[in-house]
Amino acid sequence: MDRQQLFEDVVSQLAIGVCIVDSGYNLVYWNNFFADRLQMPMADVEGKSLLELFPDQATFLKRKLQSVFVLKNASFSYWEQRPVVFQFKSSRPITGEECQMYQNVEIYPIFNTDNAVDRVCITVYDMTVTASYHQQLTRLTQQLEAEKQQQQVLINKLEEAHNQLLQSEKMAAIGQLAAGVAHEINNPVGFIFSNLQSLQDYLSRMLKYVDLLSKIVDKVPQPTLHQLKADYVQRNQLAMVLADCPDLLNESLDGAERVMAIVKSLKEFSHVDSKEWSAADITSGIESTLRVINNELKYKAEVVRHYAADLPALYCQPMQLNQVFMNLLVNAAQAMDSFGRIEIDVAFDEQKMVVKIRDSGKGIAPEHMKRIFEPFFTTKPVGQGTGLGLSLSYTIIRRHKGSINVESTPGVGTCFIIELPRRSELEVQQDEASLAAASQHGVL
Ligand SMILES: Nc1ncnc2c1ncn2[C@@H]1O[C@H](COP(=O)(O)OP(=O)(O)OP(=O)(O)O)[C@@H](O)[C@H]1O
Ligand SMILES: [Mg+2]
Repeated sequence: MDRQQLFEDVVSQLAIGVCIVDSGYNLVYWNNFFADRLQMPMADVEGKSLLELFPDQATFLKRKLQSVFVLKNASFSYWEQRPVVFQFKSSRPITGEECQMYQNVEIYPIFNTDNAVDRVCITVYDMTVTASYHQQLTRLTQQLEAEKQQQQVLINKLEEAHNQLLQSEKMAAIGQLAAGVAHEINNPVGFIFSNLQSLQDYLSRMLKYVDLLSKIVDKVPQPTLHQLKADYVQRNQLAMVLADCPDLLNESLDGAERVMAIVKSLKEFSHVDSKEWSAADITSGIESTLRVINNELKYKAEVVRHYAADLPALYCQPMQLNQVFMNLLVNAAQAMDSFGRIEIDVAFDEQKMVVKIRDSGKGIAPEHMKRIFEPFFTTKPVGQGTGLGLSLSYTIIRRHKGSINVESTPGVGTCFIIELPRRSELEVQQDEASLAAASQHGVL
């Protein structure tokens, strides 16, 4: 066998498609790769137009071939951009199923002795194996990405649940403490108050009696007795004592009343972790919160209220909202460098209630603004802040389908704005039911 014959035999059996066309796109040669797949031996197709043999790809092939004839440069078509040029079959490596052959096609100019290009060679590489692995890899990557995202959602849920647990443990501890203190103080302050009331009554009777006796003594014509009385009154400063007694009792009654109000607030606060929904008056929640944290506030700021008249009740979780007010008010107090001012606005319209808590504290640095609602974000020294107050407040307000926003100017102050939609009991129940359903189905 001569070398040419040997060479032709090898080319005809290559696992690569080889096809040669002339400048009129007519076939000069194709190897078995083409012939076997199309069931058309070389002898039957010689001289036929390649474009007529592959009418579906005629436009594309013509453009490619033209460019090689004109530019005398090779031209390529890769499976990733154009998966199929010649409609051949191939089998997938993984499933074994027959499918279209993904292919790389390369077209080279063939130069004649005059250095002109009057023929071109088209080679076709079967890329189905690579394409199949590539597609499988893409699918797996997408699957992995989706799983990663699901895991991230779960991690976020877990973190949120963990944080809420921490915060509700803290609140439950406050609640227990409040309940204990309230219980211990309730009885003694109760009898102090009622005894003071009786004392007030007795005192007024005794004062009348002393007055009567004094008048009787004055009427008795005995100067020594008058002198005795005057000495006694002066020595014991009785005029001042008698005048002061009612004031002292009134002040004590006032004090006992204040203690009773604090005990009442503490009792209310002992349910801080309650998630019960009911129609409640927002301002009385704010007031009882203010009483409980009065000690934190009174040396830090003056509290100014602007409550709209005729505020309607809001169907809400009152104890949870009290936690929000407490967090915001304590933060406001902690932001004061010197004695300042905390203003509380409560307003409403048809759709919503708006609570604003504005302080004249040091403000929030712009770089912290985005982070303050993150769990565990705190700028306070270790042991003073856990960084959970605002994140919990955010969760509570979101549960009420409301919003919480902040405006702050460093050195001037901060204002937290809470908007709560005025939902009916039915709307709340529906929202809560769909929330429960969503969390059961793993959406939340
Ligand atoms: N009114 C405010 N003025 C200035 N900075 C504030 C104010 N409210 C919140 N911040 C900033 O936001 C951070 C986060 O507040 P958050 O209430 O979540 O946590 P904390 O007060 O640090 O700790 P915790 O409330 O758990 O005791 C605070 O550390 C503080 O830097
Ligand atoms: Mg706080």
